[in-house]
Amino acid sequence: MASFLFSAITSSHVILIILLLCSSFLTNSLAAKHGYSSTHRHHHRPHNSSPFPNPKLHQAYIALQAWKKVIYSDPNNFTTNWVGPSVCNYRGIYCAPPPYDHKIQVVSGIDLNNADIAGFLPDELGLLSDLALIHLNSNRFCGIVPQTLSNLTLLYELDLSNNRFVGPFPNVVLSLPMLNYLDIRFNEFEGPLPPELFNKKLDAIFVNNNRFTSMIPQNFGSNNSASVLVIANNKFGGCLPPSVANLANSIEELLLINTSISGCLPPEVGYLYKLRVLDVSLNKLVGPIPYSVAGLAHLELLNLEHNMMSGIVPEGVCLLPNLSNFTFSYNFFCEEEGICNNLTSKGIAYDDRWNCFPEKPFQRSNKVCEPVLEHPVECFEQHCSNGGSEGFAAAPMLSPSIAPAY
Ligand SMILES: *[C@@H]1O[C@H](CO)[C@@H](O)[C@H](O)[C@H]1NC(C)=O
Ligand SMILES: *[C@@H]1O[C@H](CO)[C@@H](O)[C@H](O)[C@H]1NC(C)=O
Ligand SMILES: *[C@@H]1O[C@H](CO)[C@@H](O)[C@H](O)[C@H]1NC(C)=O
Ligand SMILES: *[C@@H]1O[C@H](CO)[C@@H](O)[C@H](O)[C@H]1NC(C)=O
Ligand SMILES: *[C@@H]1O[C@H](CO)[C@@H](O)[C@H](O)[C@H]1NC(C)=O
Ligand SMILES: *[C@@H]1O[C@H](CO)[C@@H](O)[C@H](O)[C@H]1NC(C)=O
Ligand SMILES: *[C@@H]1O[C@H](CO)[C@@H](O)[C@H](O)[C@H]1NC(C)=O
Repeated sequence: MASFLFSAITSSHVILIILLLCSSFLTNSLAAKHGYSSTHRHHHRPHNSSPFPNPKLHQAYIALQAWKKVIYSDPNNFTTNWVGPSVCNYRGIYCAPPPYDHKIQVVSGIDLNNADIAGFLPDELGLLSDLALIHLNSNRFCGIVPQTLSNLTLLYELDLSNNRFVGPFPNVVLSLPMLNYLDIRFNEFEGPLPPELFNKKLDAIFVNNNRFTSMIPQNFGSNNSASVLVIANNKFGGCLPPSVANLANSIEELLLINTSISGCLPPEVGYLYKLRVLDVSLNKLVGPIPYSVAGLAHLELLNLEHNMMSGIVPEGVCLLPNLSNFTFSYNFFCEEEGICNNLTSKGIAYDDRWNCFPEKPFQRSNKVCEPVLEHPVECFEQHCSNGGSEGFAAAPMLSPSIAPAY
């Protein structure tokens, strides 16, 4: 599962390359660097002697100098050359013509990935109103995400992953009309995810490995366009709502690993006909695999491990044409139907250990399995508690003494 959590989106690299090309043109066209501090206080000088080719670059200068002031550690010297008016030559800063004027250069990209910088994001970043992408992956930025980012109406990609941002979900991102790629994983954001997040036209949403709590929104939003949704390793609790079906027209990878979700998997997951990856491992799911899953023709990876699911592993799932990895260990399944019994013969990587299959090795003991088999879970009786990670009331047979030992 880790490879999906860390998988990069290639489109971002394409955009970066475009920006890099643009910025090299700019570098060639810009006048040579000259001392800035000696000239910039002379407000009476004629306009055309300003060290900045246009007012936008002047604003960018103000923003980047304000930023440099609240950078407290820069061990790789990324910001050392952030001096003087040639902001397009600053390390990690990329310029390109904005969509509204092809004759000027503005700051359109920031790429400080892996810089290991410690500091804050100042309000002045709102002055960089032409930014199309911000990549701050793997730094030590902390504090909150400034509200002034709402000024970045062209922002297409925002990657704040692997930093130390805190506070509630940065609602400011919901106001960005062009945003397509949102990656805020591996931070310390907390509280609920706003339901509006699932109504935005985003292609990829990564919010995994934060401290988000409370329910997955009851309404996933019919406007959702995400092909990748990773909300793993947060403490959501509650159930996966039937409205997950609203993701059907877009979702290809849905990763809900370790999110404290309980209840049965709703049959509506079978409506997500574009799914290639479904990973709900490390949760508290009960009940059977919905038969509808057998309709997910593109499914390649299905991971159900470490839940409390039971019943039959349906042959329809094992017959899925592109399934290459089916992991359902550490549950309470009791029968592998048909070919599910011999996935090796289909070339499918699988793990069926620690279930209740009578004839297979590495299974739970009869003593553990029998009470579960005697009380099959009736999903239609399940009422989903919206109360966070509270234990699931309708799974009485799973007293702590027989709960799976991880
Ligand atoms: C199958 O998927 C599981 C869980 O995602 C992973 O741990 C395992 O390495 C995969 N196996 C193969 C052969 O890819
Ligand atoms: C950064 O600059 C300082 C001071 O010039 C120098 O001592 C240090 O080695 C530089 N670090 C790197 C990674 O280049
Ligand atoms: C928003 O951007 C405009 C320039 O495009 C600038 O004049 C204004 O000050 C910015 N607002 C904030 C809050 O940064
Ligand atoms: C869906 O998008 C349309 C147009 O973009 C908008 O008018 C509508 O309010 C959105 N629906 C929701 C539930 O946000
Ligand atoms: C599950 O998520 C919690 C945070 O909600 C984290 O502390 C824990 O390490 C995660 N468990 C695994 C196995 O990744
Ligand atoms: C199955 O995978 C192959 C090869 O990756 C691909 O060409 C084909 O379209 C896939 N079929 C489905 C139903 O996803
Ligand atoms: C699984 O299928 C393979 C090839 O189809 C066969 O050789 C093997 O004996 C089967 N294993 C079991 C346990 O049925």
